[in-house]
Amino acid sequence: MKTLVVMNEKGGVGKTTIVAHAGWYFAERVATLVIDLDQQGNLTTTLGSHVSSVDSVALFAAPTRVPAVGRLTVARSTRALLGVEGVNHACIETFRDSLAAMAGDYAICVIDTPPALTVRSFGALLAADAVLAPIGINDYSIQGVAELLRAIKGVAHHYRRPEPTFLGLLPSVFDRKSRRERALFESLAAQAGKLLFPGIVAKRDLYARAVSEGQPVWALPSSAAREAGQEIRHVFDEVARRMEIDP
Ligand SMILES: Nc1ncnc2c1ncn2[C@@H]1O[C@H](COP(=O)(O)OP(=O)(O)OP(=O)(O)O)[C@@H](O)[C@H]1O
Ligand SMILES: [Mg+2]
Repeated sequence: MKTLVVMNEKGGVGKTTIVAHAGWYFAERVATLVIDLDQQGNLTTTLGSHVSSVDSVALFAAPTRVPAVGRLTVARSTRALLGVEGVNHACIETFRDSLAAMAGDYAICVIDTPPALTVRSFGALLAADAVLAPIGINDYSIQGVAELLRAIKGVAHHYRRPEPTFLGLLPSVFDRKSRRERALFESLAAQAGKLLFPGIVAKRDLYARAVSEGQPVWALPSSAAREAGQEIRHVFDEVARRMEIDP
């Protein structure tokens, strides 16, 4: 099982929308586990028909496997996740051990994280093979990236393991009609080109509609939805290629 963590401390940059679509995309090909570590539970609501009997908080308490419910399985979020933020950091390694115990159960695990660097985030980073960081195209969102990169390095160093692959900054909720955002995107590409993921998720109302209806954007019946589907599937094609997820 390969583990993809979708993370950015910044809120509202499209993390959950991207994880839901990643779940639908990968489940077309391979056994897919999605873990919701955000107590807000938005992902759990969107993927509600795929929820397993084991909640995500259980993965921090003792090495635990999540029973599959189909090609797509969700370890749901509960408010009890807030209890993980206590003083006992042993749960970070327990979470890693839970994922290791599922090595043969799923081909890919995709983890949604809360908009803060929490103990849960460190657990996710310790278990990660790859990290994808959606960013909004604005100054504040880009400023937070250094902190994220430090956390990735810090966790690997502290637990003496190789760093996960940083797949890149994925421009998300990108309003291509805005001159200001286009200019910021150009300057970002010039400054941090090497950190930029080769793809984008444009700002489109269709994504919000898809998520609220509990289906991927490519399942909606319109030509704009087909275009959106191509755009976001291109992102996951590249993720699958870089993570060597074979159908
Ligand atoms: N590409 C997009 N185009 C338009 N709206 C989007 C897009 N992606 C996400 N949204 C909307 O923006 C809001 C935030 O998206 P989402 O919940 O995916 O972000 P998040 O990073 O997970 O937020 P949080 O940090 O609160 O967990 C939602 O209302 C969602 O429907
Ligand atoms: Mg979210």
